[in-house]
Amino acid sequence: MALKTTNGGPAGPNRRAFLSGAAALAGLAVTAPKAFARASDRVEGLLAQMTLEEKAGQLSVFADMIRPPIGDMNPLVNIRNAQTLTAEVKAGRIGALFNGVGAQAARDTQKAAIEGSRLKIPLLFAADVIHGFRTVFPIPLAEAASFDPHLAERTARATALEATAAGLHWTFAPMVDVARDQRWGRVAEGSGEDVFLGEVLAAARVRGFQGKDLKADDSMLATPKHFAAYGAVTAGLEYNSVELSDATLREVHLPPFQAAFAAGALMTMSAFNDVNGIPATANKMLLTDILRGEWGFKGVVISDYTADQELVAHGFAADDRDAARLAILAGVDMSMQSGLYIRYLPELVSSGAVPMAVVDASVRRVLALKEAIGLFDNPYRSLDPQAEAQRTATPAMRALSRESGARSIVLLKNDRALLPLPRAGKRLALIGPFADDRDNVLGAWGGFFADRRLSVDLATGLRAQMADPNSLIVERGCEVETTIAGGFERAVAAAQAADIVLLAVGESQDMTGEAKSRTDIRIPPVQMRLAEAIAATGKPIIVLLRHGRAIQLEGVVRDAPAILATWFLGSEMGNAVADVVFGAVNPSGKLPVSFPIDSGQEPFFYNGRTTGRPAPSDPNGQEYKARWRSIRNDALYPFGFGLSYTRFDVTDMKLSTQRLAWNDTLHVTAKVKNSGNLHGDHVVQLYIRDRVASRTRPVRELKGFQRVSLAPGAEREVRFELKRQHLMFVGDNDYWIAEPGVFDVWISNSSVDGLVASFELLPVG
Ligand code: BGC
Repeated sequence: MALKTTNGGPAGPNRRAFLSGAAALAGLAVTAPKAFARASDRVEGLLAQMTLEEKAGQLSVFADMIRPPIGDMNPLVNIRNAQTLTAEVKAGRIGALFNGVGAQAARDTQKAAIEGSRLKIPLLFAADVIHGFRTVFPIPLAEAASFDPHLAERTARATALEATAAGLHWTFAPMVDVARDQRWGRVAEGSGEDVFLGEVLAAARVRGFQGKDLKADDSMLATPKHFAAYGAVTAGLEYNSVELSDATLREVHLPPFQAAFAAGALMTMSAFNDVNGIPATANKMLLTDILRGEWGFKGVVISDYTADQELVAHGFAADDRDAARLAILAGVDMSMQSGLYIRYLPELVSSGAVPMAVVDASVRRVLALKEAIGLFDNPYRSLDPQAEAQRTATPAMRALSRESGARSIVLLKNDRALLPLPRAGKRLALIGPFADDRDNVLGAWGGFFADRRLSVDLATGLRAQMADPNSLIVERGCEVETTIAGGFERAVAAAQAADIVLLAVGESQDMTGEAKSRTDIRIPPVQMRLAEAIAATGKPIIVLLRHGRAIQLEGVVRDAPAILATWFLGSEMGNAVADVVFGAVNPSGKLPVSFPIDSGQEPFFYNGRTTGRPAPSDPNGQEYKARWRSIRNDALYPFGFGLSYTRFDVTDMKLSTQRLAWNDTLHVTAKVKNSGNLHGDHVVQLYIRDRVASRTRPVRELKGFQRVSLAPGAEREVRFELKRQHLMFVGDNDYWIAEPGVFDVWISNSSVDGLVASFELLPVG
């Protein structure tokens, strides 16, 4: 094997500001807008006038109890009510409020800051606007299945249009945590298990939320979160500790953040978890050395909800005062909800425990942010009740919700082309707890700001497309985790009276999201019993799976002839599912998370490293190999997998060279043909594997994908570029390096199949 060299250029190895994947290839450096890079005279002027308490106030963020969306969600922590909050705004003791809703009330509060406070510094209004606001789009994991950054950008833009009209400047999104363990409930909020897909979608969502001009009335500041490695909580247990090598941190968990910053994000949120024993919210290495030192991030770090105070429970801070000190010294600029900064920073500075310069630097960043979005010149931007009426739940929003919903659906199985169904001539039974349910279409964040009157259930969506709506019989059979008296009997009778059964089973939305880790990821037992009773009728079953993570499919559900992964698709869920069921939309989604054979395989992800004893190709082989006693360590449905109603053939893979020079580009091409009878989209994927390296490497890594849209019989060439940057990894001493040697490259339909070739990366020079 050729001698390996590092990729340091003339100055030697250098990990500074190196961007992996998408961001690197787009040639994007981590830069902030010019206005944001250096504090302006206005900001410096204000800073010079501020008391210590006013400085601490700018760094303090509280739940907006002046205009709460759904009452007091957290009375234990919300010690500030509307009156006390307004008084504190006037006293200059608050810099931002979050999770309030309504333009007029926000205007009134802003007026209190502008007319009632000494320095007239405007407030920022933030919120958890994750995947839609009044109109809800698919959960981010579902949308990731579209493998379509353009779609993610459009839904984020639409989300910003509605949210900024309701008096908001800033969203606590996108969540860019890479999630490799499906037991973790927050898998639902991110882009799944892959780094490259995570980078591409993180950047797209930032662009969508923020738009082209930060000062525009409909631009919403993005906050890629949670910094960092929250997705790596041990055993998928929410808030658990994280034990992670530096290499995996840098290769897997950090790149989506870099991509988000490269796309212009000016904020991030420090995570709840620790990383190798140091809580993220007091983690100087993460928040200062890497974020600001290596990457040159000039924006604002906000703690997660009371995460600074939780340093005490972590056993890392002695008490609240100590927690405030550790958080600000590590690099947390703003404290969310605990009130620790306003309570302790003035005394911490006057006693010398925290240098004034540290507090000043944070205040400068926050004021610069307010300036960057135009708040000083126009404190009432995005606080316009008229816009709120005009920009909310428009037909265009609902059309986008439906389109994005249908494009997020993944066809996992379709024996004998059972799908799509004809709109006439068949009697259908829609069975299962989600059949006519409207409480589980939006996803875990959906209950927050959504206009629930918009929610379309499955029965309504399906009937709307049937020639005879009466030929659909609807029976829940059971609830998500409990029985309904007589439910099974009625459901079986419905199945017997029908030609085809649509079985809507899976998780409820409150089984997913924050604080909803599961020990196993199966469909609840009562639903499985229902499914068995239905299967016993012998009627063909189409499974409409409801879920916010990958699910372990088993028994009659796994063996049903047709399965659609339908996630939580948002306001238009029923219509979106009907579009795919009846063929108005040909499914083109691909799994952003691997469906394991068994829950016990978790954490399971396609891009694990190769072992010294790979599993044998014979599925029954029982040698001493990396497999379970009962099953191979494979996916039931792998990352990247998804069928179509038509057939695509990928052929003629070609490499422009088999010897890639250090600074050259390799072109990989192939032909894709739609060999079926229907128009369809296909996502062609490119993976690589480094055969021999100074660290063991993943069995495959996604490095590109392309969506092609082809009429029946049409053929197109797809073309990918591979450069040295795609081949890099974190080597010894945490430096990004590329090593000369042989690489395999696949063009494929998923992470486990495809055409394969190989090439050699030649040494430098
Ligand atoms: C979540 C964050 C969220 C914050 C504010 C926390 O519990 O982890 O993602 O932004 O609450 O609602």
